[in-house]
Amino acid sequence: MKIVMVSGSRNPEGQTARAANAILDGATNFGAVCERIFLPVHNLERCRQCEDNGWGICRTEGRCIIDDDFAGIVTLLKEADVAVFATPVYYSDLSESMRAFTDRLRRMCSHADGRSGIEDKPAVGICVAGGGGVGSLNCCVSLDKVLNTCGFDVVDMFPVRKQNLKAKLNQLRLAGAWLANKPKTK
Ligand SMILES: Cc1cc2nc3c(=O)[nH]c(=O)nc-3n(C[C@H](O)[C@H](O)[C@H](O)COP(=O)(O)O)c2cc1C
Repeated sequence: MKIVMVSGSRNPEGQTARAANAILDGATNFGAVCERIFLPVHNLERCRQCEDNGWGICRTEGRCIIDDDFAGIVTLLKEADVAVFATPVYYSDLSESMRAFTDRLRRMCSHADGRSGIEDKPAVGICVAGGGGVGSLNCCVSLDKVLNTCGFDVVDMFPVRKQNLKAKLNQLRLAGAWLANKPKTK
């Protein structure tokens, strides 16, 4: 069982990482192998909206024309059994790196070739509002929407705020254990 965690935070020791690590630790205890990807340290452009009609080869070939780290991260995701998307809450929404990545991923997934390996893959979202604590639910709605558009089987979504982070770690560990035991999700 392989789990790939994609983080929209650059901080491997921050609040988003604490929450994501709880899921991954719970899964590791049951034999899962976990890989962590921190999007902000990668070279990831935003979508270029290549053609006048707004589309590009994402629509016709299911891949992105931009030669950066995107394709490599997508390959890791496709190889995983489960995907975990963890983002800090910025302005009650996804972080910029998570937005840039998922904006391009959903386009790629509009073609069958791009969607292959993503469709029906179990995915979990975590949104950590680490400032005043406002916006984690709104952020979860954004993340749920874009992951569903990509075709993931979104099995759970965790709104977390600074004030309840510690209390949620146990739930996150349990979710990780559940994922590692290859649950029937549909
Ligand atoms: C541009 C920006 C916008 C933010 N907006 C919010 C917000 O709407 N609600 C909130 O509780 N925290 C907000 N924060 C705080 C982040 O949620 C917090 O820094 C983050 O969860 C910490 O995660 P990290 O330790 O992984 O970086 C914001 C931070 C930044 C940099």
